Order: sequence, then C-alpha cells, then structure tokens
Amino acid sequence: MPTSLLPSTFDDLGTGSVVVFLHGFPFNRSMWRQQIDFLSARRFRVVAPDLRGLGENKSGEEVATMEDMAREVAALMDRLKMDRATICGLSMGCYVAFEFVHLFPARVRALVLCGPRAQGPDDAERKSREEQAQRVLAEGMQFAVASISTNLLAQKTVTEKPEVVARVSDMVLQTDPRGAAAAQRGMAARRDYSDELANITVPTLIIAGREDGVRKPEDAEFIHRGIRGSQLVVIDDAGHLMNMEQPERFNRALIDFFERLTH
Ligand code: MLT
Repeated sequence: MPTSLLPSTFDDLGTGSVVVFLHGFPFNRSMWRQQIDFLSARRFRVVAPDLRGLGENKSGEEVATMEDMAREVAALMDRLKMDRATICGLSMGCYVAFEFVHLFPARVRALVLCGPRAQGPDDAERKSREEQAQRVLAEGMQFAVASISTNLLAQKTVTEKPEVVARVSDMVLQTDPRGAAAAQRGMAARRDYSDELANITVPTLIIAGREDGVRKPEDAEFIHRGIRGSQLVVIDDAGHLMNMEQPERFNRALIDFFERLTH
C-alpha cells in the first residue's frame, strides 16, 4: 500500500491544536469546508484528507479497507510531523476512526464521531454492499444521487437549502466508481467495533442528526453507552450530513467540546 498522499489529496490549514477530519461515503474532504474554515480561523490546525480511492485520492485497488485508510491517515500525520490529533469522522470516517484509535491509541487526543455505527456487517449487509459495488462499476454514480433527498438529508435541508443538496450531488457524481466500489467492499469487510468501545479512554463527542435516514438513533446511543464519559449531541433539522446541513450548530458543538478539553 502506498503511504504518501499527493498534496492535491488533502487540506492542511491553520496553526494550533490538530484536528483531522475523515469524510463519509461516497464523498470527499470538501464536505468539511465549513469546519475547515471555522476552526482554521480559531487557533486550530485542520487536516482533511481524501480517503483511499475517493476524492482526488485515486488509488485504483479493488478493496480499500478501513485499516488501509487509517494507516494512510497515520502516514500523512507522520509526513506532516504530527504526533497526536483529535480525530473527527463521519459515518465511514467513523469506521476509519475506530481503526485508527485501535491501531494508534497514543496518537488520538480526542474523538468526534458523527453519524457513527459500531456494529459489524451481517450477511445481508455484505451482500447488499457487493451488489452496490457491482452496480456502481456497471452504471456509474448517477443512481446514488436519488437517495440524497430520500435518505441522507433532513426534510428542511431538502426544501430550504438547495445549495447543500447541490453540493452533496456534486460530490457523489465526482466520485470515481472504482473508488466507490473499493470502499463498499472495504466497509463490507470491516470489523465489529462494539467490544472495543470500552477500550476508548480519550474524551469523545458523538454527534447525530435527528433525521438521519441512514443511522438509527440507537446506533449513536449504543456508542454513547459504550464509551465511558462520552457526550452525545443530537442536532435538529439535520440528517446524515449534519455538518453540512447545520454548520453553525455543528461548529458550536465542536468548539464547546474543544474548549472543555483545554480546561
Ligand atoms: C457514509 O456516509 O459514510 C455511509 O453511510 C457509510 C455506510 O455506508 O455505512
């Protein structure tokens, strides 16, 4: 596995305490734009890579595992001479964050888990992911756009924030079908992180969108119960992409959490 990301595949802005953002599927680092702008203007150094096979990170393999992605993030931190960071993932980015904290616990200062799920895939999920992988390779990304309004975004986002819907559609359509298939297969092969929650001892914030059609509220609550001392924030009028749908509330939750860390 190559360990060095091209400069075109990540953002690195600001100075201060490091926060690494790990995007969801089938998206790219541009989903964090409002968080990158907000934090880099407030004494944080923000690093946001395109995860393996996605965005500009065109790796070309058939399976991109969550471990491959986590190791690539660690290699990027090495290259940028960062020992420790707060790791903030959304959905697939949370699977990568779970791998990261398992592999490199000393490098994690705190965790932010957005729209997370800990349980591993069952046979039905594995089968469905393989079908999705084959469909995307045969037809391209277009069919995935249909689920944006029905599953991913809150009703209010769909009716009142056309610019968010357009940004999400653009991200999906820009995704390389081979990268999407590789990530689907990687997610199908992921581990069950449920039993590892009790090993997580760093401060952890969990953020859920109240109208998330992809994750059930129980998924976030399960993780909240599993990680001792964790905090759970539920954002109204937000779905699976709560950081794009309600950026002010999301950024407020982040900064409140970060301020408590320093006291
Ligand atoms: C994501 O947003 O990253 C996906 O919903 C993850 C998944 O398919 O489990």
